[in-house]
Amino acid sequence: MNSKDKKQPAGLGKDNQSPIGIFDSGIGGLTVVKRLAATLPNENIVYFGDTARVPYGSKSNSTVVEYSVQNTKLLLSKYVKAIIVACNTASSIAIPTLKKEFNIPIIGMIEPGAKMALQKTRNKKIGVIGTRATTGNLAYSSEIKRIDDTANVIEKPCPLFVPLAEEGWTDHNATHEIAEEYLKELRRDGIDTLVLGCTHYPILTNVIQKIIGKNVNLIDSGVASAELIKEELQKLDLLTNSNTTGLQEFYVSDIQVKFKEVAELFLGKEIEHVHKVDLEELSLE
Ligand code: DGL
Repeated sequence: MNSKDKKQPAGLGKDNQSPIGIFDSGIGGLTVVKRLAATLPNENIVYFGDTARVPYGSKSNSTVVEYSVQNTKLLLSKYVKAIIVACNTASSIAIPTLKKEFNIPIIGMIEPGAKMALQKTRNKKIGVIGTRATTGNLAYSSEIKRIDDTANVIEKPCPLFVPLAEEGWTDHNATHEIAEEYLKELRRDGIDTLVLGCTHYPILTNVIQKIIGKNVNLIDSGVASAELIKEELQKLDLLTNSNTTGLQEFYVSDIQVKFKEVAELFLGKEIEHVHKVDLEELSLE
């Protein structure tokens, strides 16, 4: 999109009863839906998982920006009042473009996760695990050091955690072995706080906590982003005043055989309505 273009209108979305939009490259962002629903149970949520084009973690920056703009337009067409980019990869690359192009509150994973890590750490040695794109961009290091330049941040890509989470191998021997391999250096470095810098990773919390040690704080950016969107919507007077449990609607760009099973594992509950979005339409958005 041309940077000279005017900001996109927020459509009819700026209304208390409008849903909150969430997107991810696939199903990892469902861990954020779970956190958001716990923090704001009465809010309606529209989720889009770009399951046809996952993973974003191995794509070029320009492709991730292009997809993120399309995903945002899709959510705006559902009249959302705010958007959570529930993908660390997209957050680390596309947030500045999205904030420039769209006139709607947009929250990513990096800023709230970094803030929460700094609130929790005592020795200021913070580990960050994520996709190659997120850790390669040093997104968390930059944000943490922007807030506190005395913090020591060590980033480590853990790409195999994504397929392990999607396979539902939350307590498998292979997961333990791979986690040991990925995390042993961080353990030796004496970190006291570890950011789960990929929305798939909270699914593997038990194994990660066991390997890194029970005294290390694990930061789930989904929890931090849910708190931040609550504050933002409060400030804008856009929180719902409904007393009933919010509705959740799910859109994906491809419905895979295991989708429902894995989505329910990520969400921790049954899901009903899943709609498929045509990829061609999405690219034209
Ligand atoms: N859920 C994505 C993230 O948080 C990881 C999966 C991907 O590579 O697309 O970065």
